[in-house]
Amino acid sequence: MPWPTWTPGRGTRSFSCTATRPRPTRSWHADYGWDLDRELLFGVKVFAFIAGVRPRGGGTVVITGSHRVVARFAASLPPQQHYEGHLLGRYLRRDDWFRALSRPGDDDPGRAARFMDREHRTGGIAVRVAELTGQPGDVVLTHPWVLHSGSPNTGGYPRMMLTKNLYRRGCFGAASG
Ligand SMILES: [Fe+2]
Repeated sequence: MPWPTWTPGRGTRSFSCTATRPRPTRSWHADYGWDLDRELLFGVKVFAFIAGVRPRGGGTVVITGSHRVVARFAASLPPQQHYEGHLLGRYLRRDDWFRALSRPGDDDPGRAARFMDREHRTGGIAVRVAELTGQPGDVVLTHPWVLHSGSPNTGGYPRMMLTKNLYRRGCFGAASG
C-alpha cells in the first residue's frame, strides 16, 4: 500500500495496491549536508508544480519542523565530525515517532492519520508529516534541512513536480558562486 498519499476507505479512485511501489520509510532525507554552517541560512529548497497535484495524489511529503531537529543534531556533533549520512538516521531513530515513521512493513491503515493529522513533539520541537499539493505554477520554498520523501503517484494522470536546491553565495568558500 502506498503511503501516506492513500488510505483504505478514503480513496475515490480505483487503482491497484501493490507492494512493489516504494514506501516512505527509509527514504526520508534532506538534500543538503548537515555539515554546512548552521548559523546561516545557506540555501533554499524549491518545489515547483508543473502539473496539479491533488491531496493524496502523490505529492512530495515533508516533515514540518524537521529542519530544527536536523539543526539540533548538527549542533550535537563534535566540530571536526566528517559528513556521514547514517549518523542522522541513527539520531532520529532515538525518537519513537521517527523510528515508527521509518519502520518498514507497517500496514496499519491508520498510519497516515497517525503521522499527518497530529503533531508530535520531539525534545520540544513540533513535527508532522505534510503532503505538498498545488496547482501548476505554485512554488513551495522550504528550509534546506526539511526532511522529505518522494511518494508514488496514486492518480491516473501524470503528476509533475520540479525540485531545485539553491545555495547561498559563498557558502562553500570564497571561490564558489
Ligand atoms: Fe530530495
